Amino acid sequence: MKEFRFTNEHSSTDVADIVDVLRQPRLWIPTAQDYPNHSAWLDKTEAQIASGTKRVMAAYMGRDAVGTVIYQRQADQPQTLEIRNISVSSDARGRYVGAFLLRNAEVEAVQNDFPDIEEFTIDTKVTNQEMVSFLEAQGYTIQDITDLYGLGAGLDAVMTKPVVR
Ligand SMILES: CC(C)(COP(=O)(O)OP(=O)(O)OC[C@H]1O[C@@H](n2cnc3c(N)ncnc32)[C@H](O)[C@@H]1OP(=O)(O)O)[C@@H](O)C(=O)NCCC(=O)NCCS
Repeated sequence: MKEFRFTNEHSSTDVADIVDVLRQPRLWIPTAQDYPNHSAWLDKTEAQIASGTKRVMAAYMGRDAVGTVIYQRQADQPQTLEIRNISVSSDARGRYVGAFLLRNAEVEAVQNDFPDIEEFTIDTKVTNQEMVSFLEAQGYTIQDITDLYGLGAGLDAVMTKPVVR
C-alpha cells in the first residue's frame, strides 16, 4: 500500500498541485453545468490559500495530492465555518480519506484556525446524492434548499453541523 499523508501546511508548489485536484477533469463532478464560475473561483482560491485567508486540508498518496477540503470563515457570518470543495480522487476513495480530511479540517478550525466558530456549513447540489449521503454520514443535516449562487445552475442543499466543544 502507498503511504498516505494529511496536512494543512503547504509550500507554493503544493498549493498548485492541490488546486489541480480541483480542476476539471479531476474534480469528479459535472463542474461546467453545476458551477459555471468554477475556474475563475479556483484562480482566486490559489492566491487566497497562499495568503492564508482560505485553509486547505490535503491528502497525499505517495507524492500525489489525492484529496482536498477547503475551509474559511463565512464572510457574512464570521462564526460559521464554510467548507468547500470536498474532493477525493477516484483511485483513493473508500478508505475514509474524505471522512478523515473533513474531520481534521473541523478539528483544526476549532482548535487552531478559527477558535470562535459555532457551526460548520457546506453546500452541494441537491442532485449530488453521493455528496449528500457522505455529509449525512459525517453528521451534517440539510438546513435549506435554494439556488445559492443565482446562476440558474440548479438547487443547492445547504448542510450544517453544530460545533461541539
Ligand atoms: C464523496 C467523497 C468525498 C467520498 O470520499 P471517500 O474518501 O471515498 O469517502 P469515505 O471513505 O471517507 O466515506 C466515509 C463514509 O461516507 C459515506 N459515503 C462515501 N461515499 C459515499 C457514496 N458514494 N454514497 C453514499 N455514501 C457515501 C459512507 O457512509 C462512508 O462510510 P461507510 O463506508 O462506512 O458507510 C468522494 O466520493 C468525492 O470526492 N466525490 C465527489 C465530490 C464532489 O462532488 N465535490 C463537489 C461538491 S462539494
